[in-house]
Amino acid sequence: MISPSSINTVSVFSAIGNTPAVCLTQDLPYQHAAHILLLGCGDVRNVLFTTYSDTNPRRQHDITCCDIESAVLARNGILSSLLLDDVDELNYDSIWSFYYHLYIDDQALELLQAQSRKLRELATSIEPWHRSVYGRLLRFCDNGTFVSVREIWKSYDLSDLSQIEKELYKTRFEAGIQKSLPARTAYLAKRNAFKCLWSASPAGFLALKDLSNLHQYFWGDGAPAREGNPNPMFGPNDTSTLHYGLNPLLGYRLSTVYIPLDIKYPLKQKLPMNSGRYKVAQAAHFQFFEWAASFRVHAGNSLTLRFVAGDAIAVCNAILIGGEDYEGEVAPVTFDIIDTSNLADHVGFINVLVAASQLLKPTFLAILYTEVLLDMGRNRAEQLDNLLCCPSPTMSILPGLTPVEYWVNAAVSTANEEIYDNFITPSASRVQTDVEKGQMRSRIAWRLSMLLHT
Ligand SMILES: C[S@@+](CC[C@H](N)C(=O)[O-])C[C@H]1O[C@@H](n2cnc3c(N)ncnc32)[C@H](O)[C@@H]1O
Repeated sequence: MISPSSINTVSVFSAIGNTPAVCLTQDLPYQHAAHILLLGCGDVRNVLFTTYSDTNPRRQHDITCCDIESAVLARNGILSSLLLDDVDELNYDSIWSFYYHLYIDDQALELLQAQSRKLRELATSIEPWHRSVYGRLLRFCDNGTFVSVREIWKSYDLSDLSQIEKELYKTRFEAGIQKSLPARTAYLAKRNAFKCLWSASPAGFLALKDLSNLHQYFWGDGAPAREGNPNPMFGPNDTSTLHYGLNPLLGYRLSTVYIPLDIKYPLKQKLPMNSGRYKVAQAAHFQFFEWAASFRVHAGNSLTLRFVAGDAIAVCNAILIGGEDYEGEVAPVTFDIIDTSNLADHVGFINVLVAASQLLKPTFLAILYTEVLLDMGRNRAEQLDNLLCCPSPTMSILPGLTPVEYWVNAAVSTANEEIYDNFITPSASRVQTDVEKGQMRSRIAWRLSMLLHT
């Protein structure tokens, strides 16, 4: 898709999400088909959790996934295809392993390589792909995205490498991981730990020690995670650096480990009796397995994922003016739900609001979600004023949006733990670079003002 773009000088590969999965349809009446746009889609957890949580199992989900990194889309494509194929649920452990771990065993690597070959044989060009067994579930919005994703799938197959080439590959892979080290070290020096308390909210403080330990375990600081084969899904990448805060467990709802659960809670019976970090890891595994099973049911008939690689703002504009790549493809160009991840932290809050709001369906049900993770004020009201660069009631008039939580004075998630944590962590008082800033997760739902107030 041809469009103006800015040069990406330091590209960070956010292969794994760092906020707990959300149900994308939670604010849409259950009988409505859902046309969803994910800007900065990141990993697949929100899609999995949505298929698990949706109260209407027959609802049609048509989800357009935009990400600037083709590698993120390639990961999601191969995972989705394997979950669809794994009808006997025999491969869950290997699938979890190659989606989330830096180093994997032979079994997981063989599964990944075999699936990579299978997809490439079907993906000779975009038309045959769309007619293939995966073509109804996984669609490409343009040929550029298709070609780049197919190239990345090819890079997952290392079976043709000689022994020497494999050694070289491993060296490059490890050098790639080392590139993240300065940012991790700087962050740890300023903030003491990778906290991300939101993933265990409202029991974040109970999870403090475990979350910090699990981060170090994932990166192999304690060695065992580095055994096995380098995982090509995080492959050596000369143009981008692995995000320094990656931790696979942060995408799951970890409070289940720390709070008493009702006997009817679906995962209650299966929660392990282990303690500490093992319990957290096992809870995340269980959630993944349950969500994956729901995903397979939906993927068979009521789910479509459309991939487009590009800068979110440019993609919004391209969709708005009816990009030629959408011709011939019956793809949604307006949406009931638009989720913008925490793109606002990266490309600016107002840019995201203006670009994305143009693609909302003109109905009072349509909803746009923004998320901010950086600490931008002492409380939520101050944070929003700072993000909008002026008093929020004034600024939100411009794109014609109303922030629902601020209108009704209630929210379903809290940032209290982060506010307390910023208060007691000394370095947070001197707000400087992004690394030094504290965290304050704020997720806001925006609806079209004129339609909401009539
Ligand atoms: C904003 S990042 C941060 C991680 C996020 N908090 C999560 O949990 O997924 C999420 C995704 O946005 C993508 N991204 C970053 N900048 C983008 C841009 N300008 N346009 C589209 N996607 C972008 C990244 O590649 C990543 O996959």
